[in-house]
Amino acid sequence: MSSTNRQVRLAGRPSGLPAPSDWSFTEEPIPVPGEGELVVAISHLSLDPAMRGWMNAGASYIEAVELGDIMRAGAVGRVSASEHPGFAVGDHVYGALGVQEHALSDGNGVIKIDPSLAPLPTYLGTLGMTGMTAYFGLLDTGKLEEGDTVVVSGAAGAVGSVAGQIAKIKTRSPARVIGIAGGTEKCRWIVEELGFDAAIDYKTQDVRRALREHAPNGVDVYFDNVGGEILDAVLTRLARGARVVICGAVSQYNATEGVRGPSNYLSLLVARASMTGMVVFDYAARYGEAMAAIAGWMREGLLISREDVVDGGVSAFPDALLKLFAGENIGKLVLRIQND
Ligand SMILES: NC(=O)c1ccc[n+]([C@@H]2O[C@H](COP(=O)([O-])OP(=O)(O)OC[C@H]3O[C@@H](n4cnc5c(N)ncnc54)[C@H](OP(=O)(O)O)[C@@H]3O)[C@@H](O)[C@H]2O)c1
Repeated sequence: MSSTNRQVRLAGRPSGLPAPSDWSFTEEPIPVPGEGELVVAISHLSLDPAMRGWMNAGASYIEAVELGDIMRAGAVGRVSASEHPGFAVGDHVYGALGVQEHALSDGNGVIKIDPSLAPLPTYLGTLGMTGMTAYFGLLDTGKLEEGDTVVVSGAAGAVGSVAGQIAKIKTRSPARVIGIAGGTEKCRWIVEELGFDAAIDYKTQDVRRALREHAPNGVDVYFDNVGGEILDAVLTRLARGARVVICGAVSQYNATEGVRGPSNYLSLLVARASMTGMVVFDYAARYGEAMAAIAGWMREGLLISREDVVDGGVSAFPDALLKLFAGENIGKLVLRIQND
């Protein structure tokens, strides 16, 4: 085993899409844990659209990554050395361990995971932060009710694919779950394999017109992952009392000329509707509840988890991140760092 720990650090604050010059690569000796510390050999990293926001100066719902710091990332791996009473060598763990091969930690925010129940990358997606986001965004913020017509954007992505499936599980016929995604393959996947009732390919179809067809009685819950034009289109189709969940706005994260806001927001007035932002971290105390429910649905075959794992280790991180903004992933995008 190499004694070097390779890392990716933030070198610049991007304008638009992150450029190669926004990253620097460093090498350090693999850390040695002091008292109360552990070292994790990272096997997989989570790639998240939110990373683009963390690269900007100024805090939002979480502090910005400082220039020169190791890029923040959720990761899973195996404890390779431990002086921490709560962790033994060989334990598998999840934590915000950063874009690097080996992470030193004091155990704060690190949780044990069980690779015999699900593959490690699933703990970055459906059984991790993205699954929690789908669950609480839909059920708590979206106040999903039986019979609701639900629309999910980014529907073939990590959060969207789980949100749509939970909506199918929780609503009953004649409820409809409609996914909006880019491209034929993604639309086929969410309908034929995940059980969405309909899919709209926003790259080739008129979203407003397609919604008139698929949601003739209006949309009760809109779970929005993308913002921009698609949010505006869905706002024109709200049913009375609709709930719009602002989970994210990936279409706007690289905007250089200001974020496009919804010009059709007066539909909220007409429909007596609400539009509410949600941040998954607010539900940390209830993650156990969501994990148990999602794991149960997976065991029963009601919910499919898909991970899109790319190889290449930490040096592939800059290009892998861009896949999210080019729509090249289906399901949860994960970067393999080293063998477990
Ligand atoms: N609020 C929270 O606590 C929280 C937590 C986690 C994630 N999120 C948000 O949830 C959303 C989904 O995240 P994820 O991790 O599941 O990513 P993801 O959906 O797996 O990947 C991003 C997807 O966004 C779509 N996309 C990219 N550019 C787009 C554009 N210009 N217009 C429309 N769609 C575009 C692409 O799919 P297509 O091929 O379909 O375009 C791409 O595959 C993001 O907005 C993220 O920030 C929020």
